[in-house]
Amino acid sequence: MTVKKSFIQEYGPYFLKGTGYTLGLAIIGVSLGFVLGTILALMKRSRLWLMRAIANVYIEFVRGTPLLIQVFIVFFGTQIIGLTVSGFVSGAIAMFLNSGAYVAEIIRSGLNAVPKGQAEAARSLGLSKWQTMQLIVLPQALRTILPALGNEFVSVIKEGSVISVIGVGELTFQTSVVQGASFRAFLPLMITAGIYFILTFGLTRVLNFTERGWAKTSA
Ligand code: ARG
Repeated sequence: MTVKKSFIQEYGPYFLKGTGYTLGLAIIGVSLGFVLGTILALMKRSRLWLMRAIANVYIEFVRGTPLLIQVFIVFFGTQIIGLTVSGFVSGAIAMFLNSGAYVAEIIRSGLNAVPKGQAEAARSLGLSKWQTMQLIVLPQALRTILPALGNEFVSVIKEGSVISVIGVGELTFQTSVVQGASFRAFLPLMITAGIYFILTFGLTRVLNFTERGWAKTSA
C-alpha cells in the first residue's frame, strides 16, 4: 500500500499535467472545430456548387484519412512553410481541423432532422429565410446538435492521445514518461486509463442528465 502511495506522490504531477493538456487540447479542438464545422455546414447548404464542393472535399478527406496522419501533416507541414509553432499548437490545429469535419456533419444532420414543414410553415407566415432559420429551425435542431457535440467532445478527449506522437505532454505522453522514469510498464497505463475513463464517463453522465432535463421541458 505504501508503495502505491509513494508512486502517486512521485508521479502524480505528471498525470495531472497530462490531464490538463488533454483537456486543453479537447476544449480548443471542439470550440474551434465548432466554428469551422458551422462554416462547413453552411457551405454545404449553399446554392453555389463551388462552395458545396469545397466543403464536401474537405469533410470527406478529413473523415477518410487517419487523425494520426493529419497530425503529422500539420506538424511537418507548418515547418515546411516556415512556421515555427510548438507541438501543442500543431496538435491543437490538427485537432480542430479534424473535429470541424465531424462537427459539420453533426450540424448538417441536426438541421436535416427538423421536418421540412416547419420551415415551410414559417415561410408561409411571412418570416424571412434568416428569421426562419434563427427562430424556427435552429432552436429545434439544437436539441439533436448539442448532445452530439457532447459526444464529439468525449471522442476528442480520447483521440487526443494520438497527439502524443509529436511530443505534446498530454496524458498518453506523460504515461510513457512515467513508465520510463519508474521502470514500471503496467501501473502508469492503468492510472491513465482510469483518468480517461473518469473524464469521459463523468462527461457522458452530465450530458445524459442535461438531455433528460431538456426532454422534460419539451413535453
Ligand atoms: N480515430 C479515428 C481517426 O483516426 C477517428 C477520429 C475521430 N475524430 C473526431 N473528431 N471525432 O480518424
